[in-house]
Amino acid sequence: MKRLRYLMCPPDHYQVNYVINPWMEGNVHRSSQPQAVAQWQRLYQIVKQYADVELVTPAPGWPDMVFTANAGLVVNQQVVLSRFYHPERQGEQPYFREWFQAQGYQVLELPEGIAFEGAGDALLDRGAGWLWCGYGFRTMLEAHPYLAKWLSLEVLSLHLIDKRFYHLDTCFCPLSDGYLLYYPPAFDTYSNHLIERRIPPEKRIPVSEADAIRFACNAVEINRVIIANQMSTSLQERLQQVGFTVITTDLSEFIKAGGAAKCLTLRLDEPVAAVPAMAEVTKRLVSLRGHLVDSNLLTEALDRITDGGGSFQIERLHLGAHRPDPSEIQLWVSAPTEAVLDDILNNLIDLGARLADGMETPVRLEPVTQAGVAPDDFYVTTIYPTEIYHQDRWIRVQKQRMDAVIVVEGLTATCRLLRDLQVGDLVVCGVDGIRTLHKPTQERGQEFGFMESGVSSERRVELVVEEIAWELRRIRERGGKTVVVAGPVTIHTGGGPHLATLIREGYVQALLGGNAIAVHDLEQSLYGTSLGVDLARGRTVKGGHRHHLKTINLIRRYGSIRAAVEAGVIKSGIFYECIRRGVPFSLAGSIRDDGPLPETRMDLLQAQAEYAQLIEGADMILMLSTMLHSIGVGNMTPAGVKLICVDINPAVVTKLADRGSLESVGVVTDVGLFLSLLVRHLQQLGQPYHLRAA
Ligand SMILES: NC(=O)c1ccc[n+]([C@@H]2O[C@H](COP(=O)([O-])OP(=O)(O)OC[C@H]3O[C@@H](n4cnc5c(N)ncnc54)[C@H](O)[C@@H]3O)[C@@H](O)[C@H]2O)c1
Repeated sequence: MKRLRYLMCPPDHYQVNYVINPWMEGNVHRSSQPQAVAQWQRLYQIVKQYADVELVTPAPGWPDMVFTANAGLVVNQQVVLSRFYHPERQGEQPYFREWFQAQGYQVLELPEGIAFEGAGDALLDRGAGWLWCGYGFRTMLEAHPYLAKWLSLEVLSLHLIDKRFYHLDTCFCPLSDGYLLYYPPAFDTYSNHLIERRIPPEKRIPVSEADAIRFACNAVEINRVIIANQMSTSLQERLQQVGFTVITTDLSEFIKAGGAAKCLTLRLDEPVAAVPAMAEVTKRLVSLRGHLVDSNLLTEALDRITDGGGSFQIERLHLGAHRPDPSEIQLWVSAPTEAVLDDILNNLIDLGARLADGMETPVRLEPVTQAGVAPDDFYVTTIYPTEIYHQDRWIRVQKQRMDAVIVVEGLTATCRLLRDLQVGDLVVCGVDGIRTLHKPTQERGQEFGFMESGVSSERRVELVVEEIAWELRRIRERGGKTVVVAGPVTIHTGGGPHLATLIREGYVQALLGGNAIAVHDLEQSLYGTSLGVDLARGRTVKGGHRHHLKTINLIRRYGSIRAAVEAGVIKSGIFYECIRRGVPFSLAGSIRDDGPLPETRMDLLQAQAEYAQLIEGADMILMLSTMLHSIGVGNMTPAGVKLICVDINPAVVTKLADRGSLESVGVVTDVGLFLSLLVRHLQQLGQPYHLRAA
């Protein structure tokens, strides 16, 4: 059998001198030079038994030169030289270049700014001959098309997502006859699907995390002999069953720097593959404008690209000269396929990004062919104002809400729910010709700057309440609209009378809730109890549990809450005030409802429609201790509406307030306390207002 050739570099200057991967953390200056030399020598002797080994002279000051896998990628007599991502390794490049040139290789170099780390991130499949290429930490996705073109290979891009496995060869090892040793959690879902599509199950050998962190995948295979640092017995047996021999040799000194057997070697005679050159990598130019740095918008956008399996290259960055000035960035976003790119672009459009190359490209409209079902790649709306480019103009989308579809009729575009789609409706698809409009974050901050989610201290709650009181007053004075969404806890915590006061004093223009808040409020009005508890004394009333059902029964007898109020049976409370003041309300049913009350909508589609109608035109929505109804309302509400979420559970508040807009505010506190403070502050704001206890 033909002897293979490898390149190694003696560890004369090996040390852990800096931290560029998680393995190096805590190991700076902790590696032992004599032990490293001994371990390297043993590996060298083993490899030499099975293959020829060439040596490159180590250069002082470049400790990682020992990891020759990162010198470049050799295919036949060509080498694509590495262009290291970290400056700590960039000084190795000239030494490797010199060595390859001296050996007569044709040296190919990527353009500046495109990182590539050689055979550490580019591994030939030993069965079919395509090239698996990693990206995400060191090598950039943008390097992949060059490899495909220069080496005439089909390149399959794999997205690395676990920083411990920062190079492809730390978690992925193609073996003879198309076998693959790999650690699946190191890759994103898309990459795992790609691997599964290309490698049949009987050839895939997934390793455990324990084996992965022993660098079992960082193995050198020479004619069915696998050389690695360590491997569990079970993994060794599995490999033996399919005809491989495993040799383990301690390389712990090198693991301190994040490398083992494979990293310490570079194969010099990869065979030529006769497959057509191909790399699916596709890219679009995107521009983003706003307070990129102070508002974290840029970090968020870049995270969305990399988390989504893409990569980026900055084309142009203009930073505003003064704090209020907006900044602008244009960047190329690349992804391994069109579908992945579209997902990323959708996420960026949600952030306010524009497709710089296709700004004036018309939206793509596809007809609905089945009622209630949209075409596959329909655009999913967000809470942000959206415009589409259609018939040579930008058109503002009406009835903005999240999780809807945009339907275009003539020059009108409207958000519509999936279930309302009719056959023939024209639906916006893809990513072209769509933009969302975000107010600069700073502007919003000034307006409602006190509002941050996760409010906790009492003083902080007081401050927030003060601001909400101020806002409520302003909305009332200008004839605006405040909507309250409330759960039954509002009543249990003694907040009922305060909410009734707000309604009576004209601060609430619509009330949304479920069956329970109404039943509890009416029970309190009739019996002074809520679920049988005397709220004034905080004690359970004997037989009080019946009050709940008796209340429901009584209202059912009258036919509606309104009828009971008009008959003089209900004389106080939230719903009494609503009916007296003509404040509309909607009660949405749920599976746990008792009764229900006649007004409770058990048809949820009808309830959703009623909620949506009452929310329309709202300036502010107060969400009081109901996760279910608040989430429902949040999904229907466009950006620009101030949302105040009050809940005792910080997790609920974070979930509700986290809409990526500063107009949402979380207040973590008891809802009864919140309402009493709010009413007190409104009282202090005074003037034509005088407070009566409900
Ligand atoms: N008998 C009935 O008919 C009945 C009884 C209860 C609920 N329901 C129905 O069930 C559905 C869900 O009910 P829900 O909205 O109460 O439940 P939910 O779980 O959606 O929300 C309750 C929220 O209140 C919060 N909370 C608890 N104590 C609080 C306090 N002291 N201060 C502030 N927040 C506090 C919780 O953290 C939770 O997020 C509704 O449709 C409701 O009408 C019906």
